[in-house]
Amino acid sequence: MSKQKNNIVVIGAGYVGLVSGTCFSEFGANVIVADRDKDKIRKLQNGNIPIYEPGLQELVNKNMQSGNLTFKVNYSEYINNSDALFIAVGTPSRRGDGHADLKYVYEVAEEIATNIEKKILIVNKSTVPVGSARKVGGIIKKINSNTEFSVASNPEFLREGSAIEDFMNPDRVIIGVDDEYSEAIMRDLYRPITEKNIPLMFTDPESAELIKYASNAFLATKISFINEISSVCEKTGANVEEVSKGMGYDSRIGDQFLKAGPGYGGSCFPKDTLALVRIAEEHDLNIGVVKAAITANENQKKRMVNKITDALDGSIAEKRIGILGLTFKPETDDMRDSPSITIIKELIKEGAEIIAHDPHGLEEARNLLPDEVKLVESNSEAVIDADGLVLMTEWSEYLNIELEQFKSKMRGDAFIDLRNFLDKEKLESYGFRYFSVGK
Ligand code: UGA
Repeated sequence: MSKQKNNIVVIGAGYVGLVSGTCFSEFGANVIVADRDKDKIRKLQNGNIPIYEPGLQELVNKNMQSGNLTFKVNYSEYINNSDALFIAVGTPSRRGDGHADLKYVYEVAEEIATNIEKKILIVNKSTVPVGSARKVGGIIKKINSNTEFSVASNPEFLREGSAIEDFMNPDRVIIGVDDEYSEAIMRDLYRPITEKNIPLMFTDPESAELIKYASNAFLATKISFINEISSVCEKTGANVEEVSKGMGYDSRIGDQFLKAGPGYGGSCFPKDTLALVRIAEEHDLNIGVVKAAITANENQKKRMVNKITDALDGSIAEKRIGILGLTFKPETDDMRDSPSITIIKELIKEGAEIIAHDPHGLEEARNLLPDEVKLVESNSEAVIDADGLVLMTEWSEYLNIELEQFKSKMRGDAFIDLRNFLDKEKLESYGFRYFSVGK
């Protein structure tokens, strides 16, 4: 007898919810992805993906066609038909204090509580402070004390730009559970992962929640560390790329997340490092290393402004600066907390005129950058009459820019590569003065 398909509901059609739901449907589960944003759901029902994420469109189309994946605004009628309900709503930084704002998570818990009639597993996939799984359980118990349920924590480690690959082939899957019932359901849902011999680590919900914050904070610290080392390199004549490479050979250190740049950004590291500091403070703890990583990240952005100013002969007032790349990393349209925002605002404050290009981030950039930034659709438009060019994001299309044409359209000759992405000798051979990070 063939086994019945798992039915799951994923609540929240943001990055994590959309990618996880789609990938679970690819694993063979019947998935409903729900979001109260009617416009977003209508678009998804018509096959329009609200984010740019390589491979996602194809996977959504395929699983919608096979009937494994559907999108809904209301999910309450499907709750009792499900094996598991995944909460994947946003947990933004609370305005003013940096705590993760759990209001959306708690709203979902209340909605679930008023509707459950049979034993059900609720899984937290959103990044939530330690103790949240238990709080969700407490909310449900208070509203609906007669129902049996379990709450698990299953943090997500996918990266924007490679989210599908990260979900399908993760280094590990972390699952915090309190009982065998939850463990059995989660084992079944992740069977395609264990069949590839990828470890599923079962632990308690609190540890699972902290693994997520600790992992992001550690990676952010690694980046801030190498960014600080890059400043030492610049003063001492060392080359940060050589230093990273040499450090990376040590398997205890590893070679990943040691690329110096303009500072980390995105929807996770800035928010999660701050939230971890707040979690510690709630327990009267001062976690200085993570705090220092946050400060170093802010300093790195300031350092980039100084580097640009120095490259433009000490003053940027009334200088025209062309920006190549705005998103916090390539292969995404996400502009949230991108270092480009802070750096550009600072350049404008100092009197510079900004003309900027990004292959996928222009729409979001319009909402987040000051009005005076001129946004252009093609990279060659960003160079016209520019005194200097700043490469902010390492989009692969910038590897193929027409250097001769670029140089001839510019007023000045400074090329400031904040990602150490292009070849110094090549740029110099076209008459550019080339500046990079940590070299
Ligand atoms: C990050 C984590 O890498 C994921 O594991 C995690 O699931 C995710 O946050 C999350 O919590 O949802 P993401 O923010 O998509 O993923 O992007 P990363 O690839 O980690 O890059 C973050 C920032 O660090 C980017 O601005 C990137 O340019 C910067 N970075 C990264 C560096 O400056 N240097 C490096 O060596 C690596």
